[in-house]
Amino acid sequence: MGEIAGVILAAGLGKRMRSKYPKVLHPVGGKPMLQHVLEAAEKAGVNDILVVLGHGRDMVLDEFEDISYVVQEQQLGTGHALYQCRDALKPSVEHVLVLCGDAPLIKPETLKKLIDYHVENKSYATVLTAEIPNPEGYGRIIRDDAGNVRGIVEHRDASPKELEIKEVNSGTYVFSRRELFEALEKIDTQNAQGEYYLTDVIGIFFDEGKKVSALMTEDPTEIMGINDRIQLAEADRIMRLRKNEELMLSGVTILDPETTKIDSGVVIAPDTVIYPFTIIEGNTEIGEDCRIGPFTTIVDCVVGRDTVIRNSVVLESRIGSHCKVGPFAHIRPETVLKDYVKVGDFVEIKKSKIGEGSKVPHLSYVGDAEIEENVNIGAGTITCNYDGERKWKTFIDEGAFIGSNTSLVAPVKIGKRAFVAAGSTITRDVPKEALAIAREKQKNIEGWVRKKKKKDDD
Ligand code: UD1
Ligand code: CA
Repeated sequence: MGEIAGVILAAGLGKRMRSKYPKVLHPVGGKPMLQHVLEAAEKAGVNDILVVLGHGRDMVLDEFEDISYVVQEQQLGTGHALYQCRDALKPSVEHVLVLCGDAPLIKPETLKKLIDYHVENKSYATVLTAEIPNPEGYGRIIRDDAGNVRGIVEHRDASPKELEIKEVNSGTYVFSRRELFEALEKIDTQNAQGEYYLTDVIGIFFDEGKKVSALMTEDPTEIMGINDRIQLAEADRIMRLRKNEELMLSGVTILDPETTKIDSGVVIAPDTVIYPFTIIEGNTEIGEDCRIGPFTTIVDCVVGRDTVIRNSVVLESRIGSHCKVGPFAHIRPETVLKDYVKVGDFVEIKKSKIGEGSKVPHLSYVGDAEIEENVNIGAGTITCNYDGERKWKTFIDEGAFIGSNTSLVAPVKIGKRAFVAAGSTITRDVPKEALAIAREKQKNIEGWVRKKKKKDDD
């Protein structure tokens, strides 16, 4: 097989998105649409890829710094877009795989099949098609009596009879390079949209007796093109269910796939259970036997094994094994929980390290702190890490006991196995194994209530 290059058409404005961002940057399954298309082509073995950019190209290039691209200054149609690649493709390229930047559900296996089919059949063009119940908006595949593909008619140009055709153009094709560019010189704008339609190449080839093939997908959802936000939500749902199915088949229990959103880059080990309404995003990795959710958001985290995270938000942090987090905990970026840590209800942890076996069970704020092993942080303890100008650190050595409702005014150090009495405001370091009490001494006034009542009655 001769050399193959990929072209992704991504210059369109995407008017129907009603967005200030170019369509291909809108995320599906947590990644921009364009990235899915690029990855699908690469996984199919096509590494030499050109992207046709136009609308919002600076924004696209900000996110995709390494792509090779050509610019289509004016969006005159898909045929015109592809034509812009004429001189940018390497001379050695013989076949061109064409993809739409707005069709992110395409699978690498399908692209591989399409390429093989094209080469085996020695076709000049091979179009990927699908049969869908509602073909509204898609180009229809027109076949002759013998079943050969004769052309593609756009929805807006189709006759009532053609509109009944359920086999549609995916917008994904393989072409023979030389003949493709020859044909692109022949297309015109005599159609309902006044655009240069790439789809006209198929009819030109047929008329010239050049072999055209079509391959139909088994899964019609993968050709879905996204033109508005309703389709965006639908594509996101399909992507989400695909990811969930992949995880379930690999041994993860997902109790309610419909309400569970897991980004495509997330890795979860077998026998972990995901409860409903859970969102796991970015580059998160979760070990085995964990229980995550319900109502939990985890972004860019590493979680060990046998850890429970309930009703919580956990961001850019490392959570050890055998930990318990939540319900209602907020773990903010750059936090490290070692193994066997408990972070309980209404606790916020920020940029802190919590050592093995330590507990922060209730109503606390721990920020910029380093807590060693087996420390107990009493309910309502606050690290006062901010003096209005800068942040300061709190250090708590192993085995220390911090009584409830303590304020630790940073910078401050609590020594090994030291004991801080409840209700203290600690402003000075506490030595190892010392007791620190920093609160007003209690005074009881006998009979005060009776005396007050008498006074009031007089
Ligand atoms: C196109 C096909 C249609 C097919 C459908 C599949 C044509 C004429 N029609 O229609 O048969 O069923 O895709 O989704 O090709 N683009 C450019 N420059 C342009 C115009 C478009 O780069 O001047 C890009 C768009 O950014 C988009 C892709 O080409 O990524 C498809 O364009 P779009 O306008 O969405 O075409 P459809 O009307 O969906
Ligand atoms: Ca489209």
